[in-house]
Amino acid sequence: MNPLGVSFCGSRLRNPTVLASGILGITFNQLKRAEDGGAGAVTTKSIGPEERVGNRNPTCVALQHGMLNAMGLPSPGYEAMDDEWRQLKKMKVPVFASIYGASVEDFRRVAAYVAEKKPALIELNVSCPNTAEHGQVFGFEPSVAASVVETVKEVSGRVPVSVKLTPNTYKIVAVARACEEAGADAICAINTVAGMAINIEARKPVLSFKKGGYSGPAIKPIAIRCVYDIYEAVKIPILGVGGVTTGRDAIEMMQAGATAVGIGSGVYYRGPNVFGLVAEEMRCWMHANGVASAKSLIGAAHD
Ligand code: FUM
Repeated sequence: MNPLGVSFCGSRLRNPTVLASGILGITFNQLKRAEDGGAGAVTTKSIGPEERVGNRNPTCVALQHGMLNAMGLPSPGYEAMDDEWRQLKKMKVPVFASIYGASVEDFRRVAAYVAEKKPALIELNVSCPNTAEHGQVFGFEPSVAASVVETVKEVSGRVPVSVKLTPNTYKIVAVARACEEAGADAICAINTVAGMAINIEARKPVLSFKKGGYSGPAIKPIAIRCVYDIYEAVKIPILGVGGVTTGRDAIEMMQAGATAVGIGSGVYYRGPNVFGLVAEEMRCWMHANGVASAKSLIGAAHD
């Protein structure tokens, strides 16, 4: 038996690490780097209803304790992805397809197309802080998030649906619960934390979009708290994302309640082999601490 293996919404993962959405793009060659680096599953950059170039540079900056980005959801548009889907069939690990829209109808359209390509899961990005029109608005209100889930579930067939939640609301637990009630199969928590950096010599915001989403080690305690609270409120599995760069971080996220662990900025800090490194560090910790399976870590920190 593989002690690191976990099941997530019907997919068997060789280890709990998952490439988080938005880090290595959408193409086969980009996602293959995470598979080769040891990831248990990979998530595409969010796919939108039409072509979108994203925000002007600078769109990403490394700060002292994390990364600040405002890419602005660049996407080729779902209809331009047929060739890429054919290539993605060659992936050996499960592919999770992240999608976004500016309206509930957009989500329906993109989800209907993507579901036909049979990804292992569709992840609804209702939480991007970096555009005026596709933003967190869907993820702020339980009823609005639920309406996106309900609509997508009408067209997603047998493909499980997960919802990526924003920490930039005090209602994250209520949103998670509403999504579960609306039929979501999983929760992904968390997207980036709203942030900003200013170049004091230039007296200007560093990013062209001015504000952005903060990720990396600094947000791990925020993510751990969100996952811990959501775990107590829902029964569906959680993909825990936020600041995980080491095996210890991944174990902490699982003990908070995550079934699998997303890694995003960790690719910047440790390279695309971060997935294999984290899995190996988990294996060593489990061996040293007499833990027989990664599955037994899930929610272990709860009373
Ligand atoms: O700006 C971006 O493309 C980020 C997307 C996200 O955080 O969901």
